[in-house]
Amino acid sequence: MLKVAVIYGGMSTEHDVSLISGKNVIDNLDKSKYEIYEIKITKDGKWLDKRDREIKDIYKLLKEMNVVFPVLHGLYGEDGTIQGMLELAKVPYVGCKVLASSVCMDKVYTKIIFEKAKIPQAKYIYLKDENTYVDENFDEIKLENDEIIKLVEEKIGFPVFVKPSNSGSSVGVNKASDGPELIKYISEAFMYDRKVLIEEAIVGKEVECAVLGNKEVQASTVGEILSAEDFYSYDAKYANKESKTLIPADLSAEKIEEIRKLAIKAFKTVDGSGLSRVDFFVQEGTGKVYINEINTMPGFTEISMYPKLWENAGISYTELLTKLIELSF
Ligand SMILES: Nc1ncnc2c1ncn2[C@@H]1O[C@H](COP(=O)(O)OP(=O)(O)O)[C@@H](O)[C@H]1O
Ligand SMILES: [Mg+2]
Repeated sequence: MLKVAVIYGGMSTEHDVSLISGKNVIDNLDKSKYEIYEIKITKDGKWLDKRDREIKDIYKLLKEMNVVFPVLHGLYGEDGTIQGMLELAKVPYVGCKVLASSVCMDKVYTKIIFEKAKIPQAKYIYLKDENTYVDENFDEIKLENDEIIKLVEEKIGFPVFVKPSNSGSSVGVNKASDGPELIKYISEAFMYDRKVLIEEAIVGKEVECAVLGNKEVQASTVGEILSAEDFYSYDAKYANKESKTLIPADLSAEKIEEIRKLAIKAFKTVDGSGLSRVDFFVQEGTGKVYINEINTMPGFTEISMYPKLWENAGISYTELLTKLIELSF
């Protein structure tokens, strides 16, 4: 029996989602192969065992494991921090390494890398530390509110999406239709991060592709999000029962193929390993595909897109978890 530590919870805004993902992973892991150690990280960063007792020497416990499955979403879990700790403990772990994790957690840096790789994406600008605009040469220019509005009109055009660079589960993400909304949502986004991304709004379908592998990377078919609200907000993702997913997406076979190829390319571009869910938009009218983001630890609830996409390929949830653990060695 291999000892597997499943870590869930965490200090991010996605703590509650991770609790559900973690429980699902534990329920579905193959009990004939793995002996499971549950570890819960509380919102304020305490590490608890199965019976909610604080683990005194977490480093020692991790070193005793054969493999760790960090089912954590967002900051301090999906961003390279836990991954760094696991590297130091010299214990294999499921998913992306430090660099891919931290790059994909930061939407601005993901964009910079996609731009270099010529992967099509929505037009954008970003701000740092309130009203500091960082231009194409990474030079910093302090702007007044009206100058920011003018810049957005010139470079992108309304409506735009405003996001904290480190966001997840749509927390702090808003769609701004005009200048006053833009300024309001920029301040809101700065409550979550010191970098804020302002992005062209793409009208069309929102689709997702699951990738799996290290050097040899497989891509699943493409799934579609049918959001119950104007966009896939926190409420639309987790509360509104009218939101649905559709597998495969309502797209031509050629389009699905194009998206699968782009998903693998994007995953390799950020030097991903293990798994990721790569999210795209398909523009209405033009059919043009735009990458949105890479989630290095996607949702793992029973209804989450990542396991469902593999189920569609004939890989059960339990088999998927076994593959992920095997990939970590
Ligand atoms: N450029 C965009 N065009 C259209 N919709 C967008 C755009 N950016 C984000 N959205 C909407 O907002 C949601 C959350 O944004 P996203 O960048 O995926 O952040 P998160 O990391 O929180 O999931 C998306 O699922 C989508 O519905
Ligand atoms: Mg998203």
